[in-house]
Amino acid sequence: MSQLPASAPDNAGAAFAHINAVVSPTIDDLKLMVFLEASGLTAYEELANSAPNAAIGELLRANGREEMAHAHRVSKVIKRLTGEDFPPPTAEHNRYAKPSGRGVDRQMLEYLVSAETSGNDLYGTWADNTADPEAAALLRQNGKEEIRHAERAAQAITLLDA
Ligand SMILES: [Fe+2]
Ligand SMILES: [Fe+2]
Repeated sequence: MSQLPASAPDNAGAAFAHINAVVSPTIDDLKLMVFLEASGLTAYEELANSAPNAAIGELLRANGREEMAHAHRVSKVIKRLTGEDFPPPTAEHNRYAKPSGRGVDRQMLEYLVSAETSGNDLYGTWADNTADPEAAALLRQNGKEEIRHAERAAQAITLLDA
């Protein structure tokens, strides 16, 4: 089973603060990112379950599924760069996959638009600083999909009072 690096922060907030400041990821950073992306499935499912209507729930669930796909893609990057198998953890084995207790409202969705857009910028920077072209392409693909997540969150805002 994949283990977080010993230096990994205790909670998701601290882990995101670390990862958002990374310009050129180490393998430990990529491992942390696998766990954070995998936690995105749990986070989006929790939000979807509290969505004010089914259409918003579906948009959030789609984002959650793709966050787990991102975790798998970052695992592929690790495999390519090091040969190590580092599959995404299940929620039970992921300290970052914890309920937040936050519901869906305009402020939350606006936060998601901004965070997902920043996610694309982050992956773009990482790809620029990754010499291996195939690994860089995988990171860039995740970034492209973070833009789609921002678009879904923006669409959800338009459905708030529907
Ligand atoms: Fe993601
Ligand atoms: Fe995302």
